Amino acid sequence: MALFQIFFFVVFSFISPLVQSSTSTEICPVFCGDKLIRFPFRLSNQPDRCGYPRFNLTCKNQTKTILTLPFSGEFIVENIDYLYQSIWINDPDYCIPRRFFKGLNLSGTPFEAQDLESYVFLNCSNGAIPKQLPQVRYISCLSGETFSVIAFPANRLDEYRSLSWTCMNIGKVLVPAWDPNYGMRLRLKEPDCLYCEIGGGNCMFKSDTGLDIRCSGGFRSGIPRSAIFGISFGVGIFLICVLRLVCHLRRKANNIYNDYQHHNLEISGPAVVRPRSATDDAKGLDGPSIEAYPITLLGESRRLPRPSDNTCSICLCEYQANEKLRTIPDCKHYFHAICIDEWLKLNAACPICRNTPQTSTPAA
Ligand SMILES: *[C@@H]1O[C@H](CO)[C@@H](O)[C@H](O)[C@H]1NC(C)=O
Ligand SMILES: *[C@@H]1O[C@H](CO)[C@@H](O)[C@H](O)[C@H]1NC(C)=O
Ligand SMILES: *[C@@H]1O[C@H](CO)[C@@H](O)[C@H](O)[C@H]1NC(C)=O
Ligand SMILES: *[C@@H]1O[C@H](CO)[C@@H](O)[C@H](O)[C@H]1NC(C)=O
Repeated sequence: MALFQIFFFVVFSFISPLVQSSTSTEICPVFCGDKLIRFPFRLSNQPDRCGYPRFNLTCKNQTKTILTLPFSGEFIVENIDYLYQSIWINDPDYCIPRRFFKGLNLSGTPFEAQDLESYVFLNCSNGAIPKQLPQVRYISCLSGETFSVIAFPANRLDEYRSLSWTCMNIGKVLVPAWDPNYGMRLRLKEPDCLYCEIGGGNCMFKSDTGLDIRCSGGFRSGIPRSAIFGISFGVGIFLICVLRLVCHLRRKANNIYNDYQHHNLEISGPAVVRPRSATDDAKGLDGPSIEAYPITLLGESRRLPRPSDNTCSICLCEYQANEKLRTIPDCKHYFHAICIDEWLKLNAACPICRNTPQTSTPAA
């Protein structure tokens, strides 16, 4: 399945110029501040049929878009990514970790959190924390003048054992990937509008009743959808073959020139990610943004944080010692640098999980 998505996304970058957007009244587009709200979302004061059930938002003071979750309360909507079918929501006080503590309960919502990871939160008096700790997140919104709240992945508890003696453990919480400025990303579980959005169409209800959806507009000149899929597949396979060849040549070159690296070595630091707006969607990243993603030189052990990741999903080559891998900071998926760099130039989304991180200057 992941492979098919890759074909499709590579190809989408090629055929997107063929695509046109149709405007429609059935999807009731409306703005709240600078945010476009349209199907499957609607504003609560619009007719029910403008949106899918449970996708109603409110617009406060004509600027703030609010999502109300039945068991977790109100959140500010930072971004709706229609193409990748996800929504970024934040705490109205910009303290998303506080919401994790209250318990994020998504039952009864059409959303799901992804990449959940268990974090340990500690409350330390300021003198107790060394300046630079890898993988530690400083939670400024929960900290005070004399104490700081920090969090780190629970699977690294051993490394921070000494901290847990001097700090107060205030909880272990399952949290999705989050960013203090942009909150967290939730994926839409329904309706199934992905392929419609990819094709540049408008997803909407099929008729005046029921929950069936259809896609209006999209690919120009009436090319049948099956043909588009066929073309996509063909071009996709061709590209994969080219990338595969490049990987192969690259590996040969590596073997000749590069035989002294024995350890995995993180060369550049993690980048801060921000969600992309709907207008960025089909675009790739520029060189400096790609370069900001961390590079790892694979050592002889070829060990990666996730043992299942031993093959690059783009070229399907197994990783070899001394190869240069690049990580997408948000989702921590690894690829050959040479493969993902080409990919990111066309499409900023991670080919595996479709996260669409983009580098920006670290937030203060
Ligand atoms: C969303 O719509 C449902 C049913 O139409 C309603 O019960 C709920 O209060 C609405 N939520 C908001 C935030 O307006
Ligand atoms: C609405 O927004 C304006 C300008 O952004 C601000 O001055 C005003 O205080 C806001 N009103 C409320 C009720 O939040
Ligand atoms: C979410 O809250 C509801 C109502 O309090 C509860 O029934 C349900 O078990 C909770 N779900 C989770 C995953 O905690
Ligand atoms: C952290 O500890 C301080 C006192 O040491 C306390 O005042 C503060 O409320 C604690 N913060 C949290 C989030 O537990």
